[in-house]
Amino acid sequence: MAAAYVRRPECWLIVARVAGTCSSSACDGSLAALAGDAGTGGNVDPEVLKKAPLFARLDDEAATALSATMGTITLTKGEVLFHEGDAEDRLYVVVSGKIKLGRSGSAGRENLLAVLGPGQMFGELSLFDPGPRSTTATAVTACELRTLEHDELMGWLTGRPEVAQGLLGQLAARLRRANDVVADMVFSDVPGRVAKQLLELAQRFGDRRDDGVHVHHDLTQEELAQLVGASRETVNKALADFAARGWIRLEPRSVTILDVDRVERRAR
Ligand code: CMP
Repeated sequence: MAAAYVRRPECWLIVARVAGTCSSSACDGSLAALAGDAGTGGNVDPEVLKKAPLFARLDDEAATALSATMGTITLTKGEVLFHEGDAEDRLYVVVSGKIKLGRSGSAGRENLLAVLGPGQMFGELSLFDPGPRSTTATAVTACELRTLEHDELMGWLTGRPEVAQGLLGQLAARLRRANDVVADMVFSDVPGRVAKQLLELAQRFGDRRDDGVHVHHDLTQEELAQLVGASRETVNKALADFAARGWIRLEPRSVTILDVDRVERRAR
């Protein structure tokens, strides 16, 4: 059983998801069609696409029709999908794997804005505000993505306001998060930001195990530091301190949060 961790104001809710099985009405035939459109080659868990804001407010019939207009692409680990500054305006939904979104600063410094997993979308800024890509998108692991062309999406936006509402919801959530990141840069120290990032990664990629929440983030130490927005040395020091206190256990490209409460308190 895989479990996703959903952040609520005061607690962590474990949302159980049994891989490959589902007893809810969401797993009816039409959603099976949503998952396995002819020609896409996808053997997609229907629940993954339904999680994407694009689909969130659509009924099964409309979701299936929308999915049928989408393409599928696969990326190998480390492959760059697009670069910051590129002129390209497709929308992407992550079906499997992890994608990092980053920017380069002066002197070759990299900053990671987000690491996205299954059910998350990106590429909508160039759609709504025609202009170059605002980040570089790189596959952290092998990935499968669904793609939606600009003209196709525009048709859906005018014909189905629910699609526009879903996308606006994502934009609003992204603005909130961006504000939080700016505030954290000003008000939080590096260990506080490290704790917060660990919790965010757990929310997306965490699995409940007997000894804690296992977070297989697939990031190198350098990438973790880029996500926190601090030097690798400072971030490593904070991680080593958390490990010494027994709050986390460090493993290659993953971490187990042994004491969620303490990490949450450190993140505040
Ligand atoms: P676009 O600029 O078209 O291409 C890069 C995409 O990265 C962008 O659209 C957004 O979808 C996504 N993106 C940009 N900034 C952030 C951020 N701070 N957090 C998450 N995703 C982002």
